[in-house]
Amino acid sequence: MSKSSAIRQLGPELSLVTGISKDDDVLVIGLTTADEDGAPSLVIGDGLLDDATASAIDDALAAVGAKGSAGELTKLPAPAGLGVTSVLAVGLGAAEKLDDAEHVRRQAGVAARSLQGVATAVTSLPVAGLAATAEGFFLGAYRFDEFRSTPPEKAPLTAVRLIVPVADKTTQAELDRAKAIARAVSIARDFVNTPPSHLFPEEFADRAKALGSAAGLKVEILDETALDKAGYGGIVGVGKGSSRPPRLVRLSHSAGRKAKTVALVGKGVTFDTGGISIKPAAGMENMTSDMGGAAAVIATAILAAELNVGVNVIATVPMAENMPSSTAQRPGDVLTQYGGKTVEVINTDAEGRLILADAIVRACEDEPDYLIDTATLTGAQLVALGTRTPGVMGTDEFRDRVATISQAEGESGWPMPFPEELRPDLDSRVADLANVTNHRWGGMLSAGIYLREFVAKDVQWVHIDIAGPAFNTGGPWGYTGKGGTGVPVRTIFAVLEDIAAEG
Ligand code: BES
Ligand code: ZN
Ligand code: ZN
Repeated sequence: MSKSSAIRQLGPELSLVTGISKDDDVLVIGLTTADEDGAPSLVIGDGLLDDATASAIDDALAAVGAKGSAGELTKLPAPAGLGVTSVLAVGLGAAEKLDDAEHVRRQAGVAARSLQGVATAVTSLPVAGLAATAEGFFLGAYRFDEFRSTPPEKAPLTAVRLIVPVADKTTQAELDRAKAIARAVSIARDFVNTPPSHLFPEEFADRAKALGSAAGLKVEILDETALDKAGYGGIVGVGKGSSRPPRLVRLSHSAGRKAKTVALVGKGVTFDTGGISIKPAAGMENMTSDMGGAAAVIATAILAAELNVGVNVIATVPMAENMPSSTAQRPGDVLTQYGGKTVEVINTDAEGRLILADAIVRACEDEPDYLIDTATLTGAQLVALGTRTPGVMGTDEFRDRVATISQAEGESGWPMPFPEELRPDLDSRVADLANVTNHRWGGMLSAGIYLREFVAKDVQWVHIDIAGPAFNTGGPWGYTGKGGTGVPVRTIFAVLEDIAAEG
């Protein structure tokens, strides 16, 4: 197993300070847009700069036409005596927007992305929110250079000092929590960014175990023999076209007998060629992200242990590589999912639901109160909601609760229905179910309806389709670079905390 992801620092060192020091290279300040008749205003907090310095910066920003609109970056030489070499003003938009943590997180991310090649930055942005600033800087500075043979020209940002009025225990605790969250998102990103040549089921399981055990999770791995013996027909069926056998990883965090239990399930297809129902070549390389659900669930379980969240968490993570070969499953094959339901595999490219169904049935044996599954499940998610909006399905009340939390977290999950007329379209000529409908309408929803067949009744369930949101194939934006995004780690973690708060 490669050790790199277990020991990697993942992002810049973040620390609290109460002012600027000589070791800082760049001072990052905020700039809000002008209200009715004023000029753009600096977001620097009380007493950071003396009046002369503040007005020198104001004048310089006005001279180069800085407006303070969201995402605007203006770099200035620092006024004499400030300690730093330069000042970076990041546009924050209208002052009212500072109440929106996600807005602040994104602008901090924009600033961080522009600071590649800078060693240390110091920033007054925490006046608009310490946690959001910390997370935005950490995630914006995230890079994945493991597979470059020479170091990139611009070194990653190594340290960010966050200016707060008082660096006491409370603010330190707030920072530590933000760091843990940003690190978990970065763990998920690293998994997604690791190419399929290097991340196959066995390796993925080993890395999950190494990171999970280090965080204090209990970890169990089922190999191909154990899976076959126990009747995990979906995982075995999808995995059997590959020379690299499948795995099922179980990670648990315990909060005591009185606590609620939340099951997590994530799709871990380390590469999806489509199998015998092979995908077109164009864009197939993006199927390296088809384990984004598994990555998010593993990272969230690790975070739950690190922050000792007050619910029991049991992650059940199926991992397989979907390949075409003489040993692969065929369209028309019938397999038996874990628990006994039979499925006619009409399309081997609808493999995610096959491995998830096994995992969902296994997860329900633990009698959880809630079950959260997430998966890069359907191209139809992208058609319906675009690249950045996860589709949220499940039992009505929990679905709406999760979507609301996802939006508050800035991950934008949107509630979607299960139109009942789609269910008969999953009937099979020969088996209990078919793995696809015979048409393409509502493809995200029929995938969710397929999964619903396997969720035990009385379990509050949500299914989050992240086909688009898990992997950014476009340009960088906010705190999100190209590649793995780490969505929906923050949503799932916030849901765990919300459930813990129920008591
Ligand atoms: N992994 C894909 C879904 C996907 C598509 C993820 C685009 C990320 C970006 C999934 O296994 C798949 O191939 N689904 C099929 C289902 C169809 C055969 C019913 C799809 O969406 O085309
Ligand atoms: Zn597929
Ligand atoms: Zn897939």
